[in-house]
Amino acid sequence: MAVPVQNPSAQSVLITGGGRGIGRATAEFFQDAGARVGVIDRDVAGVRSGIDAVRADVTDDDEVAAAVAELAAALGGIDVLVNNVGVSFVGGIEQGTTQDWARLWDVNVVSHVRVTRAALPHLRRSSAPAIVNISSCTATSGLPDRVLYTATKGAVESMTRAMAVDLLAEGIRVNAVNPGTVATEFMEEIIDAADDPTALRAQFDGRQATGRMVAPAEVAAAVAYLASPHARSTVGSVLVVDGGLADLKLPVA
Ligand SMILES: NC(=O)c1ccc[n+]([C@@H]2O[C@H](COP(=O)([O-])OP(=O)(O)OC[C@H]3O[C@@H](n4cnc5c(N)ncnc54)[C@H](O)[C@@H]3O)[C@@H](O)[C@H]2O)c1
Repeated sequence: MAVPVQNPSAQSVLITGGGRGIGRATAEFFQDAGARVGVIDRDVAGVRSGIDAVRADVTDDDEVAAAVAELAAALGGIDVLVNNVGVSFVGGIEQGTTQDWARLWDVNVVSHVRVTRAALPHLRRSSAPAIVNISSCTATSGLPDRVLYTATKGAVESMTRAMAVDLLAEGIRVNAVNPGTVATEFMEEIIDAADDPTALRAQFDGRQATGRMVAPAEVAAAVAYLASPHARSTVGSVLVVDGGLADLKLPVA
């Protein structure tokens, strides 16, 4: 049977955290493919022209509800939701206050719940609805000094499978992307702040067996694939885009 040709120009795509980094790359990837794109971010200054942007904090129920409604109207519906927002926290089990745990849980996990709930009525009206959550290699690889962040990303992957099985009956496919170390502004800020930026950049590059950080556009392409009809048999899956970080032990380059 022939696989239907993807028609991204027919997709309306909502992306959280689309103001920079992976979210912005994903928004631009979909826009370049002809989709109608809207982003929610607390800082929308970096959003490319032609992409609808609403400034909102994903930890605020009312702001999320209003932003999703505004973008659904502007885009003519929502076919694809990309739950991308996430913030990091560096530290082991003895670092991080109870408030830090609550804050990261709210931004990295509960925001996905909040935005998904607001988007579901619109996704239900789509002929090919899909949700893609952004996880992290930390969820599966046990990287040092990332206990709090890792716990939230483990939750994102578990929640992806639970959402997938619940929503499949309505034809809504839910999957996740698990990126390795991605060369975003966020990582550049960490590198710039280090005592030895050159050494830290080499460490971040060297985590991947490919010997370099993952490009944001490579994550965007994986998101677009999971949202496309080509992936219609892919449900509750986690697509790894990590340069071999998890499974390959020797650098190949
Ligand atoms: N960069 C990496 O190496 C990497 C690796 C694996 C997974 N990830 C995940 O990818 C996602 C994006 O990461 P990134 O590196 O592009 O991050 P980033 O910090 O570059 O971008 C995150 C965006 O989210 C927005 N944002 C943050 N908190 C918000 C809030 N409360 N309300 C609204 N907007 C908010 C920011 O303004 C920013 O535009 C995150 O979920 C992150 O955990 C990143």
